[in-house]
Amino acid sequence: MMTKQAMNFTDYYSETLRRMREDGLLLVSADRAGKPNVMTIGWGAIGIMWGRPVFTVMVRPSRFTYKLLEEVPAFTVNVPPPELAETVQHCGTVSGATHDKFREMNLDAIKSREVAPPIIGQCLIHYECRIVHRCDMRPDLLIPEIHDECYPGGNFHRYYFGELVASYADEDVRTRLVGSAG
Ligand SMILES: Cc1cc2nc3c(=O)[nH]c(=O)nc-3n(C[C@H](O)[C@H](O)[C@H](O)COP(=O)(O)O)c2cc1C
Repeated sequence: MMTKQAMNFTDYYSETLRRMREDGLLLVSADRAGKPNVMTIGWGAIGIMWGRPVFTVMVRPSRFTYKLLEEVPAFTVNVPPPELAETVQHCGTVSGATHDKFREMNLDAIKSREVAPPIIGQCLIHYECRIVHRCDMRPDLLIPEIHDECYPGGNFHRYYFGELVASYADEDVRTRLVGSAG
């Protein structure tokens, strides 16, 4: 495996957002016993809150990931290379409640530096986060346009604010992302 170099959390900001809009990113959580689960995310934000670097993700209550984040308040976000597109699609389609996606997709769960949930060895950029705040959407405060477009069946997201406690990437990220669409 390529050595993973520590980076500033904004070093691959545009690459990360671009991959989030293309295939999606991989969010890893874990239960108390340490068993990991992975789900695809298409929405999220990297920024500064409370004077700290934060990765905010949005998880619907129906996800198995939601149960795990309530159990262990930490997660990692992993940026997949384009070759992993099918894996990303699978992780965004089946649930960890009934599937061991790490095993099915041959993903390497590598010990994180600072948090309990692992990172994914095959991914290129990694963000380790500890949850410092969470809150639920207020449907009554949402504009009707987004309400109707994104929530026809309810299942409103919970926001998880993950303070970035470690960020690192493969040395050859830029070459590996060259040629991907977007
Ligand atoms: C491209 C893509 C982006 C997604 N983004 C999100 C997201 O940001 N939040 C969310 O709750 N679900 C999102 N999903 C759906 C979950 O990944 C999907 O329901 C997954 O099976 C949940 O896995 P889990 O039950 O193991 O947690 C997305 C799915 C895809 C394919």
